[in-house]
Amino acid sequence: MDPIRMERRQILRFISAVILLTSPLLTSTLENGLARTPPMGWLAWERFRCNTDCVNDPDNCISERLFMQMADLLVSEGYAAAGYEYINVDDCWLAKTRDAQGRLQADPERFPSGMKALGNYIHSKGLKFGIYEDYGNYTCAGYPGILGYLELDANTFAEWNVDYVKLDGCYSHPVDMDRGYPEFGYYLNRTGRPMLYSCSWPVYQIYSGIEPNYTSIKSSCNIWRNFDDIQDSWQSVQTIIDYYGENQDAIVPHAGPGHWNDPDMLIVGNFGLSYEQAKSQFALWAIWASPLLMSVDLRTIKPDYKTIIQNRKIIAVNQDILGIQGRRIYKDRGIEIWARPITPVVRSDFSYAIVFLNRRTDGTPSEVSVINRELGLTHEAGYIVEDLYTNKDYGILTPDDKITVDVNPSGCVMLRFTVASAFQKAHLPQNHIFGLSSNINQDHRQLPQRLQWLARFPNIARSLEADQLKKREVSE
Ligand code: GAL
Repeated sequence: MDPIRMERRQILRFISAVILLTSPLLTSTLENGLARTPPMGWLAWERFRCNTDCVNDPDNCISERLFMQMADLLVSEGYAAAGYEYINVDDCWLAKTRDAQGRLQADPERFPSGMKALGNYIHSKGLKFGIYEDYGNYTCAGYPGILGYLELDANTFAEWNVDYVKLDGCYSHPVDMDRGYPEFGYYLNRTGRPMLYSCSWPVYQIYSGIEPNYTSIKSSCNIWRNFDDIQDSWQSVQTIIDYYGENQDAIVPHAGPGHWNDPDMLIVGNFGLSYEQAKSQFALWAIWASPLLMSVDLRTIKPDYKTIIQNRKIIAVNQDILGIQGRRIYKDRGIEIWARPITPVVRSDFSYAIVFLNRRTDGTPSEVSVINRELGLTHEAGYIVEDLYTNKDYGILTPDDKITVDVNPSGCVMLRFTVASAFQKAHLPQNHIFGLSSNINQDHRQLPQRLQWLARFPNIARSLEADQLKKREVSE
């Protein structure tokens, strides 16, 4: 062959190899193996915000001291034993400028030991270290963003032994995010250090009228925000509940091991939620397979609220290995029913977590009763039924039995229906899957017909006898 043509060919081959090796978009799929169940931990933002005044408010300002205290308490107060493992810094940790080499640096007054030392401290407690940045020129609070420094910043985080990166989207163009978020994910992966990747990509796109490409999002991000920032009120929690109910067809199919919808932080134990409302938030976050990121002052949280966030039975629902996000299957006159298929599974019959939520404001509990079959609970051997907040044992109920619960205003009742079988009686372990195709973890579009039916608002209204509601004129 003509030596010049051969040389050209070699050059072309060389160029394509270089493109292949260096193009982030060609190699940007998420392969960090993290978040097989929704991440659990503590995140500063909702409760501590951008308080940088360590002179007048040293106990509550964003400083290394605050995160070290929270790490201590996560362990000493039993949260870590219940599964909470991340201590996550949010906005306002940075100095206003990069260092002379262009690297990010922490505010020297509030983080005098630096971020690597903070990470070391968190790791010394057996916990994991999360950090916050922003895809734009600035973070939402005006500190340096990563635009123009993606590779350098990913490497810096790896060098600091970061385990979790939340990447916000202020001061950037939502159209650029389809490229930018995967690109930063690529650089994170390329460091070789597994770092959970939390993205705000869809929410910014939704705000600007762009329909998020969840196929791409879930191949880059472990978790992603799709709705407003949570605020310290029941009103705010309810807007999230409505968003997750009204948009469930668009978002539920994308949740699964390694990739989750993120409805934002738990505010259980703060100023805004009553005890009943706090139970409702926690129950729904479990039904949705949401990240459980508490944003609360662990130094002052009241025991009742601590008990809610450490409820092991509800955490087990949240962490169920199938990773199927639950759905709202009924909504009428202030009563909602939410259902999530969970393990154990016997011959394609799922167990379920069911939440009865009362959003009515008349000050007396509403009685809700429903035939189990109408909830999609058709396993003929029946279900072992238990209340996950009160531990009330309902015994074994068959599909034709009726379940009746009293639901407090703005509160919920959360039940677990565990498939009963010969195996069950011999103490079938939770999480056991028997007789189900093994790839259910990967693809829950393979749900049986019955579940798809559930997803389309079953005709349970007929048998949902909210007796009290019937007796009274409903004035909503
Ligand atoms: C918002 C984000 C919050 C918090 C805040 C920090 O955009 O949704 O969770 O991180 O920025 O400024």
